Amino acid sequence: MIIAANLKTNLTRAKTLEYVNQVEKFLDANNISQEVIVFPAASSLNPHAGKVFIGAQNAYPVKNGAFTGEIGLEHLEEFDIKTILIGHSERRHIIGESQELIVQKFNFYSNLGFKIVYCIGEPLEVRESGHINMMAYLDAQYEGIDTNYDNLIIAYEPVWAIGTGLTPTLEDIESLHTELKKKSSAPLLYGGSVKVTNVQEVLALNNVDGVLVGSAALYAEHFCSMADIAQNLENLK
Ligand code: 13P
Repeated sequence: MIIAANLKTNLTRAKTLEYVNQVEKFLDANNISQEVIVFPAASSLNPHAGKVFIGAQNAYPVKNGAFTGEIGLEHLEEFDIKTILIGHSERRHIIGESQELIVQKFNFYSNLGFKIVYCIGEPLEVRESGHINMMAYLDAQYEGIDTNYDNLIIAYEPVWAIGTGLTPTLEDIESLHTELKKKSSAPLLYGGSVKVTNVQEVLALNNVDGVLVGSAALYAEHFCSMADIAQNLENLK
C-alpha cells in the first residue's frame, strides 16, 4: 500500500527534518514495508536517504529559468527528488492551474522518469449535479495524461472532502475507485479527510491502494499510526 502525506504550506524546514526522521525511525523499528511518501513545502526540502520517499508538491516544467516564484528540475535534483505531486485540487482551484499546464508538467516530469502522484477530484456542485456530469468532470482531468505511465500513482480526492472532515461513504469510495480503475490500472489512492480513525476502513476497500493525507498527517505520530495500520492490513492478507 502507499501511504502519502501532503504537508501543504505547513512545517518549516527544521520541523520537516524532525518529522521525516521520526517517520523513518518508526518505519525501521516496526518493519514497515509499505511505500511511504512525504511531500514537504518547497523550502522545507532536505536531502534524505532512507525508506521514506520525499516528493515535491509542485515544480515548473523547466530545468531553470525566468519563472518567478517557481522551482524547477535543478532545485529538485539538488535534493535528489524524483517524486512529484501534480494536479492537486488546491493548485487547480486556488492557484488556477489549467489542465494544459498540468499536462505540460506531467509530460516534463514523466519524461524524466519521476514517480508522479496525479490528483483528480470533483467539487461539491459537480458531485451534486449527478453521476454522469461527475464522471465527465473527472474524465476531463485525465485529458492529455498518459494513464499507462509506469511510474504513475493516481489520487482521487473529492474537493469537498479535503480538510472538511467530510468523506464520501465507504460504498461511494469503493464504487468510484472501481470505475476509475477501468481508466487506469495505476495504483489508486483515496484522499480527503483521512485520519487515524477512518484509515483502516478506507484501506480495506477494494481498489483502494493507499491514501493521500493532509491535515491528519501533520503530526508524525498520526502519520506513523496510519502506516502501521496499513502494514497490519497487509500482513493479514
Ligand atoms: P485532508 O487530509 O486535510 O483532507 O487533505 C487531503 C489532501 O488534500 C491531501 O492531498
